[in-house]
Amino acid sequence: MMQGCFMKTIGIGLAGFGTVGAGVYENLERHRELIAERSGYSFAMRRIVVRDLQKQRDVSAPASLFSSRWQDLLEDPEIKIIVELIGGTTEAFDLTMAAIRSGRIVVTGNKALLAERGAEIFALASECKVPVFFEAAVAGGIPIIQSLRDAFVGNRIESVHGILNGTSNYILTRMQEAGLDYPEALAEAVTLGYAEADPTLDINGWDAGHKAIILAALAYGFWVDPTTIRVEGIDRVSAADIHFAKSLGYCIKLLGSIREKNGKVEVGVAPTLIPLGNVLASVNGVFNAVAVRGDLVGDSLFYGRGAGRGPTSTSVIGDLVEAAHVLDAPRGTFGFAPHALYGSSRSSSEIVGSYYLRLSVDDKPGVLALIAGVLGEAGIGISSVVQPESIAGVETPLVLMIHEAAYGAMCAALAKITALGCVKGEPVLFNVETFS
Ligand code: HSE
Repeated sequence: MMQGCFMKTIGIGLAGFGTVGAGVYENLERHRELIAERSGYSFAMRRIVVRDLQKQRDVSAPASLFSSRWQDLLEDPEIKIIVELIGGTTEAFDLTMAAIRSGRIVVTGNKALLAERGAEIFALASECKVPVFFEAAVAGGIPIIQSLRDAFVGNRIESVHGILNGTSNYILTRMQEAGLDYPEALAEAVTLGYAEADPTLDINGWDAGHKAIILAALAYGFWVDPTTIRVEGIDRVSAADIHFAKSLGYCIKLLGSIREKNGKVEVGVAPTLIPLGNVLASVNGVFNAVAVRGDLVGDSLFYGRGAGRGPTSTSVIGDLVEAAHVLDAPRGTFGFAPHALYGSSRSSSEIVGSYYLRLSVDDKPGVLALIAGVLGEAGIGISSVVQPESIAGVETPLVLMIHEAAYGAMCAALAKITALGCVKGEPVLFNVETFS
């Protein structure tokens, strides 16, 4: 029973009835009274758009709600908010733009859409004075979007570091804790349903890459071009790397790194060695975490589930309430406020970092001197070397920890090192982050 003095019912439409979409429907029903008591709003689902009307679904909704045309959402004047959860960047883009033009507030969880076309979407949102909310696009149930956009609005953001892909983190955790190799750990993640049906974007780093671009936009006010950033997945991490990292006092995480340095914004995602003592090292399994450093707030850490029905629908429902407030009291901002206070982004080749380099080399006298010579000529310093004892004359791993160097210079030196006759196979190069 509604105790407050104010209660409003708002018509909404939903595009997509997969894990998250069905969760939004189910949880709006389950917690209808709780949401109404807390917010003063009740949401009436008026239309659900799906690709395949015949598909069996684990959450049931009245058949009369379903449609296979997203245009139906726009043709119902009682729908005031459209929730876009269909994924992809083509139909989802058309729907989002049409919804904004028609004056409907959009709530989306589509990270690829925002990372690739956020500038166009928010230009239209601003022109039409219609907000787009996207808490569900980054880190599932962790309220990092609202935190960066609103709670930290008074801070200059110095850096944001995030474990942003639960599937990768699950795989790395299993490799670390159970000694599995990459293919075994991936097979386990697929079997347990953690990886997406098509895990390509989880594995190649781009799911985290899209999320990093969104976090960078909130922190620095503009959309970094996805084609200019370095994004690498975890498919080259081996049990040997886990072992060497541990012996050096690190663990390996797929880390999204976003920071401002000397007037330019740096964004990237790569397997990264982080000190075992850092709090992000204890973020395991499918969990996500985002560490924000602001000039006033200092260090803040957000931790929670980055995927799944309950966590992600939590974020969508939070956005629905935010959208309902805007319907009642329009604001002068529209979900993302572009500005030019941070200039531009730094190209990935110019970003200076520290590195872990693992080579497979002939175990012969002079090999280390040759490799160190190439690095020395490039002005790149080595901070430590690990080479396990091996049977003389047989290929052996050589691990080098590299001092700060520009990524482009590091890659150029690596090309020369790889061409040395004594270096076998593909080298492995990961970042090292000490958060200093
Ligand atoms: N598949 C993602 C993950 C969740 O594993 O974190 C959605 O972005």
